Amino acid sequence: MARHLITSAIPYINGIKHLGNLVGSQLPADLYARYLRGRGHEVLFLCATDEHGTPAELAAAKAGKPVEEYCAEMWEAQSKLADGFRLSFDHFGRSSSHQNRTLTQHFAKVLDEQGLIAEVSETQMYSHADGRYLPDRYIEGTCPNCGFEDARGDQCDNCTKQLDPVDLINPRSTISGSTDLEMRETKHLYLRQSQMKDRLEKWIDTREGWPVLTTSIAKKWLNDGDGLQDRGITRDLDWGVPVQKGDAPWPGMEGKVFYVWFDAPIEYIACSQEWVDAGKGADWQRWWRTDQGAEDVRYTQFMGKDNVPFHTLSFPVTILGSGEPWKLVDYIKSFNYLNYDGGQFSTSRGRGVFMDQALDILPADYWRWWLLSHAPESADSEFTWENFQISVNKDLADVLGNFASRVTKFCRSKFSEAVPEGGSYGPREEQLIADLSAKIAEYQTHMEAIEIRKAATALRAAWVLGNEYLQEVAPWSTIKTDPDQAAAQIRLALNMIRLYAVISAPFIPDACADLLTSMNAEGADWPGDIAEALNALPAGHAFTVPDVTFRKITDAEREEWQERFAGKRD
Ligand code: MF3
Ligand code: ZN
Repeated sequence: MARHLITSAIPYINGIKHLGNLVGSQLPADLYARYLRGRGHEVLFLCATDEHGTPAELAAAKAGKPVEEYCAEMWEAQSKLADGFRLSFDHFGRSSSHQNRTLTQHFAKVLDEQGLIAEVSETQMYSHADGRYLPDRYIEGTCPNCGFEDARGDQCDNCTKQLDPVDLINPRSTISGSTDLEMRETKHLYLRQSQMKDRLEKWIDTREGWPVLTTSIAKKWLNDGDGLQDRGITRDLDWGVPVQKGDAPWPGMEGKVFYVWFDAPIEYIACSQEWVDAGKGADWQRWWRTDQGAEDVRYTQFMGKDNVPFHTLSFPVTILGSGEPWKLVDYIKSFNYLNYDGGQFSTSRGRGVFMDQALDILPADYWRWWLLSHAPESADSEFTWENFQISVNKDLADVLGNFASRVTKFCRSKFSEAVPEGGSYGPREEQLIADLSAKIAEYQTHMEAIEIRKAATALRAAWVLGNEYLQEVAPWSTIKTDPDQAAAQIRLALNMIRLYAVISAPFIPDACADLLTSMNAEGADWPGDIAEALNALPAGHAFTVPDVTFRKITDAEREEWQERFAGKRD
């Protein structure tokens, strides 16, 4: 038994996430957390909303709400959807929490004490009409590179060139439209990442067994071009963590906040404090402070590939640079992108299926199974309705669901609603037990390694073994000639339902909970010895026939959904 800290990249607050976002961090993190808990490990699984920065401010403005109110509402919405998808966070926090404010200001102070913060004078656009500076997306104008008239302050959407607000020709405020702008000198804080290059490189080089996707991205940023750049960690915004040195003011930084990417990862730690303050846990230090027990913790992070540089470089700079004994990540699991039906998921264009819509049409388990068994691990993957229909109808309805309903119904009609007595397991049963043992061992190996698609394949294969067995021994025929043998076959099959429900729960928790209830075996432990597990339900043990565990998706539904989710979200 070990201790596992698991975090999922924290989703931006602005808007409901689509299925591509979900499968890129929160869902696989949940799979792993559930698996480890199932194996008896102690797990702390954290996630939160990423609430600061211009996207949140602009989304709130668009919704016509004060940003605090907007964030509170969206946190509720995201939290409810997380529950709907059965994401088993121990706490779902908020990066705007007071805990994160205090901790972020603390890190800034200690980084400054370590000589890792520089005050740099920069030119920024100041808007007289708005009475404020206009960073990033608060400003638009003509692209100096291609002449596109609606280029944003941080990037031109037409030619993709990265821009600085001061580069724009004919700049205007996106808040008021005003062109009464002035370039002003202002001071900002920079994190001197370049000073940390050697220590970071050493740390990355000593990480064992990291996925290639993770290390190659980290190395690229560490060594390409000019190497690790110092980075601005403050912004001229109202919404964010106010720039302070701990609880003391930072002269010259009045009215500024920390950049969202500085405070967001710190929320991983602050979230554990929120967890304690919410009365759900007693001690966050033993998860995060290596001088207070966290040395024994294995820390795994989940994220999309675009997040890797922040987790392999920026956040470790914050942690290592602080000189304090904080826990560093042990393993980073990163994902490619999930595409949607011949294109990309698009939040702005409402293309694809969003978390709320998905739950409106089918229960969480259907989505969980498809998304996890097609997780974009080694390459981008694609959601198509045809593929979704096939997976659900075959794997879930025909293989697993059908097995459970056939076996229980047959037993009820020919014996009773109790595990039948008589007969004993013969060579064919021994063979099945051996095959299942091997398959489940393989499944566990993949789960330990967080090889999600491979784990799903092994699990499906374990379900198939049961079906093949049933098909072959055909208790519906055996019963006519040898009722005792049929009883033994059904006894084994009923035990298999229980076994499947335990081992499949990380993927499809609701169906498995229902199956365990039907089998009158709630709280069943993870199987150690498979032969033993297949004798867990003794003759005479009562059960009930489960309601349809998985239904099939019809062609008509598939076509209708394909049409409905092709374009603009309402
Ligand atoms: N909100 C970011 C995204 O969705 C992820 C932030 S992860 C953290 O891409 F490390 F900053 F917390
Ligand atoms: Zn351009």
